[in-house]
Amino acid sequence: MKKILVTGAAGFIGSAIAKKLLSEGNEVVTIDNLSTGKREVIPEGCEFIEGNVYDVSIIDKLVEYKFDIIIHFAGQSSGEVSFEDPVYDLKTNTQSTVMLLDFAKKTGCKEFIYASSMSVYGDHEDPYVDELSFTKPKSFYAIGKMASEHYMRIYSGFGIKTTALRLFNVYGIGQNLDNLKQGMASIFLAQALKDNHIFVKGAKDRFRDFVYIDDVVEAVILSIGRKKGDIYDFYNVSNGEKVTVERIINTIKLNLPYDISVEYGSGTPGDQNGIYGDSSKIYNDLGWTANSIFKDGMKKMINYYANLNR
Ligand SMILES: NC(=O)c1ccc[n+]([C@@H]2O[C@H](COP(=O)([O-])OP(=O)(O)OC[C@H]3O[C@@H](n4cnc5c(N)ncnc54)[C@H](O)[C@@H]3O)[C@@H](O)[C@H]2O)c1
Repeated sequence: MKKILVTGAAGFIGSAIAKKLLSEGNEVVTIDNLSTGKREVIPEGCEFIEGNVYDVSIIDKLVEYKFDIIIHFAGQSSGEVSFEDPVYDLKTNTQSTVMLLDFAKKTGCKEFIYASSMSVYGDHEDPYVDELSFTKPKSFYAIGKMASEHYMRIYSGFGIKTTALRLFNVYGIGQNLDNLKQGMASIFLAQALKDNHIFVKGAKDRFRDFVYIDDVVEAVILSIGRKKGDIYDFYNVSNGEKVTVERIINTIKLNLPYDISVEYGSGTPGDQNGIYGDSSKIYNDLGWTANSIFKDGMKKMINYYANLNR
């Protein structure tokens, strides 16, 4: 049994990670400010501290615990929001990382896992990226994720094993359909279920690489106590499947029993045209590979939310 801090367990990915860790008999504590997360999503048995993960008073509360691992998934997850309030984005996504790394250093916690993002790559002429591809963030959100990775690299010099998971587009059951600023598949599905109409901000030939939530949880589990890789290492968590905006919409249309109209408008700042990811590094080091393909995962997600809506 390990003592683990999972930040953001009222959110989509953090709650799924916390649930899995609890089911394996670990002690799990979370910090969440409930900005996009919901209290009822925090799994039973998870100790909850409500507040901002970048607040000194909240970090101070953690001193009584002696965590074996910190898994930092709290944060705001929208490129669009990072343009509306870059300073908030910096505090919530990057300052929080530095504070938790420093807390780990001071309290002897030797392992730190972080939700980085495919957005660190920006756009590439050859859109199939691996970890050797250059990084050129296009949004403040992506800059924050990149900076967090560099902080992790330097803190690993103090003996903390740090792992940055560059998550591609995570989707699936549990995603918050009320958040219309993050998650292409969930935004389109939410609109289709609510209004029978999808409004797309940007072109239909943009594309994404979708990773199902269960696969992401598995990547975190395999990262814990990893024996391979450097003391600081970073991995694509991707499917290697190129899915266009048009295909997402067609998949939704195909799986819902009524007509859905579609309208296209201008894009949002910092939006990427599209990249998809080579995941051989995480396969070689951790044995991870994606199990779900988009067609199946999306169908499962649509059926789940369509039935909830009835
Ligand atoms: N969903 C994706 O496709 C994706 C892709 C790449 C990276 N990520 C990263 O994964 C992490 C989790 O994303 P998600 O999709 O579960 O989002 P989410 O919004 O569902 O979950 C984030 C959680 O963090 C909480 N939170 C936000 N700011 C906080 C703060 N300052 N203090 C305490 N709690 C705070 C929210 O209330 C929420 O419960 C984020 O760091 C995000 O950037 C997500």
